[in-house]
Amino acid sequence: MLSQERITGSQECQRAWVEIDLAALAYNARQLKSFLSPQTELMAVIKADAYGHGAVMVAEQVLQHGVTWLGVATIPEGIELRQAGITAPILVLGAANAPAQVKEIAQWRLQPTLSTPKQALVFSDHLQETLPVHLMLDTGMARQGLPWQQGLEFVQFVRSLPNLSLAGIYSHLAMADAADPRSIQQQQDYFEQVIQQVRAAEIKLPRLHLANSAATLRGRQFHYDLVRVGLSVYGLYPAQHLKGSISLKPAMQVRSRITLIKDIQAGTGISYGHQYIADRPMRIAVVGIGYADGVPRLLSNRMQVLIHGQLATQVGAITMDQLMIDVSQIENVQIGDVVTLLGEDNGLAIAAEDWAETLGTISWEILCSFRNRLPRIPVH
Ligand SMILES: Cc1ncc(COP(=O)(O)O)c(C=O)c1O
Repeated sequence: MLSQERITGSQECQRAWVEIDLAALAYNARQLKSFLSPQTELMAVIKADAYGHGAVMVAEQVLQHGVTWLGVATIPEGIELRQAGITAPILVLGAANAPAQVKEIAQWRLQPTLSTPKQALVFSDHLQETLPVHLMLDTGMARQGLPWQQGLEFVQFVRSLPNLSLAGIYSHLAMADAADPRSIQQQQDYFEQVIQQVRAAEIKLPRLHLANSAATLRGRQFHYDLVRVGLSVYGLYPAQHLKGSISLKPAMQVRSRITLIKDIQAGTGISYGHQYIADRPMRIAVVGIGYADGVPRLLSNRMQVLIHGQLATQVGAITMDQLMIDVSQIENVQIGDVVTLLGEDNGLAIAAEDWAETLGTISWEILCSFRNRLPRIPVH
């Protein structure tokens, strides 16, 4: 997806941007790949524009460092990769039910997820030649996938249809990040039961896959033939207790510039609604980034940024394109200085997890919020 705000002129003209650390992406891919058994393949899940990192850029990088499969949510996301010249196998994780979608999937050599016999029939009826398909089983997520109890029947049905080649059987985990392993074990047990039934029916097993980032980091018992890793490709851990597994480096840094500096009197209200009133004379700096760029408005008065390698507190409501910070204690702040919202500055770092914790959400959502307006700048 192209960012709407193109980089025009020099970097100094840029009010805000997202840096994507290509070396970190390569590092994470290699770390993940070396954590797997040699025969297990690594899929990078790059839906939602690679969780805000830029799908084509991420795909091109990680495919050189151990990733052999790509996962997307929608057909247009898959087409974007093909149009960029990417030839690796691409699994569409989301649903496709309409005949027109069948045609597109076949035309662009994408691999669909089938969740129902009816969907399998639509594909079989509208394909001109054989297409590899992946069957999804619901083992405890109640989202995509046929109830696992019907797994064997589904496999047999799909094998009986023309134009479909059974390329995979998979399921998705609801609580792989939980410290308590009972849920993941239960889902794996159901998945295993289907596998045993397929084996007992003397059907050659296709590629089996179950693990997202959390299950991948938990250990090889969840890996099967392929793991589908999103978050950890971008250098984040799905849970605190998985931080000891492998070393990862966050790939995204969000930065902006100071556009104005002003001294205000005690008692001055800052920004919409005057949700912050200066309790002393203050020096504030206006920063050229806001909620339309992906900084959640709910972080107003609840976040810090880094400037000159020091923490500065954000003050007042975050507006659509700008926010204010208190720089009273930071020396020699100038218009044009770079402010780090997410990422590192001189050894200090602010992580997506920090924002997620403040907001009571997950770091996946924080990353995805930066996919719209800001240019993404690859850095090494
Ligand atoms: C089916 C499926 N597999 C794998 C993933 C990757 O998950 P994660 O980002 O936790 O690694 C996702 C993402 O939500 C998904 O929907």
